[in-house]
Amino acid sequence: MDAPTVSDVEYDKLFKELQELEKKYPEFKSANSPTNKVGGAAEKKFAQYKHKERLYSLDNTYSYYDLELWYDKLQKNYSLQEAPELVCELKIDGLAISLNYENSTFVLGATRGDGVVGENITNNLKTIKAIPSKITENIKSMEVRGEVFMPVDVFEKLNESQKANNAKIFANPRNAAAGSLRQLDAEITRERNLSMFAYYGRIDSDELSIKSHSEMLKFLKFQGFNVNPNYKVCKNVDEAIKYCKIWDKKRKNLDYATDGVVIKVNSFELQNEMGFTARAPRWATAYKFPPEEVSTVVEDIEVNVGRSGAVTPVAVLEPVFISGSTVQRATLHNFDEIKRLNINIGDRVLIKKAAEIIPKVICVTEHAEGVAKAFEPPVYCPSCGTKLVPVEGEVNLYCPNKNACPEQIKAKIEYWTSKDCMDMEGVGGNIVSKLVDCGMVKTPADLYKLSIDDLKKLNLVADKSSQNLYNAIQSSKNPTLARFINSLGIRHVGKEMSELLANKFLTLESLQKAGIDDILSIDGCGEKIAVSILDFFADSYNNDILNDLKSLGVVPKNVEDNRVSRILEGMTFVITGTLSDTRDKFSAIIKANGGKTASSVSKNTSYVLAGENPGSKYDKAQALGVKVINENEFRQMIGS
Ligand code: IVH
Repeated sequence: MDAPTVSDVEYDKLFKELQELEKKYPEFKSANSPTNKVGGAAEKKFAQYKHKERLYSLDNTYSYYDLELWYDKLQKNYSLQEAPELVCELKIDGLAISLNYENSTFVLGATRGDGVVGENITNNLKTIKAIPSKITENIKSMEVRGEVFMPVDVFEKLNESQKANNAKIFANPRNAAAGSLRQLDAEITRERNLSMFAYYGRIDSDELSIKSHSEMLKFLKFQGFNVNPNYKVCKNVDEAIKYCKIWDKKRKNLDYATDGVVIKVNSFELQNEMGFTARAPRWATAYKFPPEEVSTVVEDIEVNVGRSGAVTPVAVLEPVFISGSTVQRATLHNFDEIKRLNINIGDRVLIKKAAEIIPKVICVTEHAEGVAKAFEPPVYCPSCGTKLVPVEGEVNLYCPNKNACPEQIKAKIEYWTSKDCMDMEGVGGNIVSKLVDCGMVKTPADLYKLSIDDLKKLNLVADKSSQNLYNAIQSSKNPTLARFINSLGIRHVGKEMSELLANKFLTLESLQKAGIDDILSIDGCGEKIAVSILDFFADSYNNDILNDLKSLGVVPKNVEDNRVSRILEGMTFVITGTLSDTRDKFSAIIKANGGKTASSVSKNTSYVLAGENPGSKYDKAQALGVKVINENEFRQMIGS
């Protein structure tokens, strides 16, 4: 019905389990087990069409190791002298169709259905521009198979207009393609702008003597079919795995959805020798990319206290594999979000990795049974028991006990030790948590008072020896001013703002003394940030810590110290593309010469320093008339 109720990953997992059970207990295998079948049965609204040759499915795996096993087995079972050549193709996430050509003319097209009988959707397929109604060469009878799909931009526009018309929203481009193709009114199909990639051809009489899959792909292209240009002939499985790894990254830039790579034996002779199992060819297999959206169960909802005192709910999940790693927690942002999504403990939810890192709950797919009342936001801080307070203009609740709440202390100190701050290698969340729990550390300054013996009391494992930790702490004492400011954790002041402040005030003392107008004169610094900075330095508890740090020798380097010239003073650079060293390195050089860097191009940008493959920033610079320079020109500017 073009509306699957479980995710692909779950389906694949259950399917594998069933296959294994059937192998173990063949006496219980049912005659109509899905392991014998391909896809779903044809629906009744279209005429049924019996395929001339069965359309098989594909075995699939999420593991490179399985690919190696498949390849080894293939070599052994067929006693091959040489490693057989493979063809890797993107696995297009659409729906499979079969096209029949008689005397070079498209006569009939059908869905896969159960592999034996599909639906005759010829009229709908005729509306797809990528399907030629006549092929180039004179061929009596031929079948072409491929994948019909909806380009991502078409999909997004379709959903926008569906939403505006209160019509059904499609979950993904594949469902949208399926729904659009199986319309009784072919005009609707036409409006949906579907496309197709051809990946298989079969000519009834073998007059053309095509000997391999790669030759077939070239032939199909010549006949006027759309063949995905990203296929690659690979010498062996190692090359195929490399291809999978490359496309797992590159696929994000494609304008169509792909969920994996299909790996096929190139030689037709070998393909014929290998043949098929009940369900799939032995000569092909699919590697599926790690999923980006999966469903799981919310086992609990925990409440976290962050370094700002903000109290945020976190979903504790039944562990699932997503985008390459197993996740167990997902942010719920705030209590309004819980209400909006109507999430309760026990619900089945769909999660995805937001910006590929922090998992996020998208929606509930199934509510838990028998949940009497909705999840209630807490009244008291789960860490210190202080009554939580709302803050005007913000959705979060806050714990006001900012200097004594254990979770807030831990979060602040963990932040202090982190990479963009004081960068104490090896001193992570666990160690900070232990140090705070046993009362040894209450403020960042306390870290520098720890002796090796104190650290020994933590009973750490060898590779995080107390000596190493001690060294990491002591050697972090003289950071750049920007890092030091960032470490303070002033609200609304992050890495970039810290750099701007450091470059403006040059020393910690002058920042401490700064008035609101001084701070506001920084480009990009508004009132909210300025007030937050002033509040921070007016607070006596913070000043005590700053004094404590100073007396312990924790003193930032003044900016003047590491400036080698003022050649770039007053100039703002945006760095893009691949240069001969990291962007951080170039950014440091710019700053050392008195210049500034920004992350996006605006009319205030003086230069865009562009390496190879510069992307959209380059285009924006062109549009705004900002000067673009290459690395050599930049080197000339600074005389190096
Ligand atoms: S070859 C006998 N190549 O993946 C060979 N299939 O489970 C079978 N698919 O629904 C298919 N892109 O429609 C092949 N480049 C590609 C493909 C591809 C997508 C689909 C196919 C089928 C499913 C296999």
